[in-house]
Amino acid sequence: MKVLIIGGGGREHAIAVSMKKSRRVDQIYCVPGNAGIAQIAECEPSIGVMEFDKITAYAKEKEVDLVFVAPDDPLAAGLVDVLEAAGLRVFGPRKNAAILEGSKAFSKDLMKKYGIPTAAYEKFDDPEKALAWLESAEMPVVLKADGLALGKGVLICNTLEEARAGVKEIMQDKHFGSAGDVLVAEEFLTGREVSVLAFVDGRTVRTMTSAQDHKRARDGDQGPNTGGMGCFSPSPFYTPEIDAFCQKNIYQPTVDAMAAEGREFKGVIFFGLMLTPEGPKVLEYNARFGDPETQVVLCRMQNDLMDVVDACIDGTLDSIELKFEDDAAVCVVLASDGYPVSYKKGFRITGLERFEGKDDYYCFHAGSKFDDAGQIVTGGGRVLGVTARGGTLKEARSKAYEAAEWVDFENKYMRHDIGKAIDEA
Ligand code: AMP
Ligand code: GLY
Repeated sequence: MKVLIIGGGGREHAIAVSMKKSRRVDQIYCVPGNAGIAQIAECEPSIGVMEFDKITAYAKEKEVDLVFVAPDDPLAAGLVDVLEAAGLRVFGPRKNAAILEGSKAFSKDLMKKYGIPTAAYEKFDDPEKALAWLESAEMPVVLKADGLALGKGVLICNTLEEARAGVKEIMQDKHFGSAGDVLVAEEFLTGREVSVLAFVDGRTVRTMTSAQDHKRARDGDQGPNTGGMGCFSPSPFYTPEIDAFCQKNIYQPTVDAMAAEGREFKGVIFFGLMLTPEGPKVLEYNARFGDPETQVVLCRMQNDLMDVVDACIDGTLDSIELKFEDDAAVCVVLASDGYPVSYKKGFRITGLERFEGKDDYYCFHAGSKFDDAGQIVTGGGRVLGVTARGGTLKEARSKAYEAAEWVDFENKYMRHDIGKAIDEA
């Protein structure tokens, strides 16, 4: 089989590595890909993920058997529908289902309607009404831009002053563009965060092993929100009891709710959960694999990824049992210093060859490219996701930090406390 993966980050590299292992996949293409993915796939860096016509033409030209759409923006904008209309076989939710991530107001209303546990909320399309409501709101309050904002459209406001400034930033100054036309104001929840990714075929949901991301840029969860600075899997706080609760009250009800709304969901749902003192609640849904969650989850999956993807598309996921290695994985993101605000690119990356032939270690490329001389250089804020597996979380963590020293580039930056929570488990 020939598979085309849409995207060019660490998540897509991890998906490509799993596809490469599939006994059924012979050739992988990737648009736009990156310098790491190019080691195992034919990449087309000149096509962007929002260039639907070019993607369709490329998929037809390469005669691919499957297109795997990984990132949120093209999913929310309906790339799956466009490719299907062109007669291609596609993995990912259609536009009317990707709204689960594309609109926070939609997902909050869905959860309310179907009794799925989540934080209490209000939504506003008028900034004056939002400001008036804030006067009597309890602080802290969480303000969210309704639409997609690269994981940055969430403001946790401790005081009324901050909240007023937040409404201005999102709704009036439009820091996140039209994503801020509607504002969701949410009750502040406390507890541990867990990410659970699940394959969905429209009716059946099969969850993968749990993970925990580290969203803030600096050690001790300080600094601005990022796409994710590192991850570990499984989460020791995600117990079988919590899993049973979530299967019954969150995962299946969400899939059923989407079907009942005429928005059948096929693909991956990422459940961002907060384990609050009152029980697990949904912080957010994503309509795709997470980044860097995928890096620590897929490398531990025993199933052939292609079999699971087919079952999701064909509606036969009930015949599949997902199996994961009984070990652990940790991913440490090596970023460009200054990410996510401003940073330089184009620095030569050295030491990548040290990962060759080492089974437990993975160097997933997030933002890398080839320079004119054919050398691999930094090409983004998140550059590499150095990932290691070990028998225990602690072992995986020490291996990941050991391997993080193998590679180097100018302005290399990482958090040093990825997986610190493991010590409290
Ligand atoms: P989201 O993009 O909705 O996942 O939000 C980004 C981050 O903001 C989450 O990972 C949480 O750390 C935090 N967050 C979002 N919603 C809430 C909430 N209601 N209470 C506390 N923290 C939240
Ligand atoms: N790591 C969080 C996300 O993929 O949205």
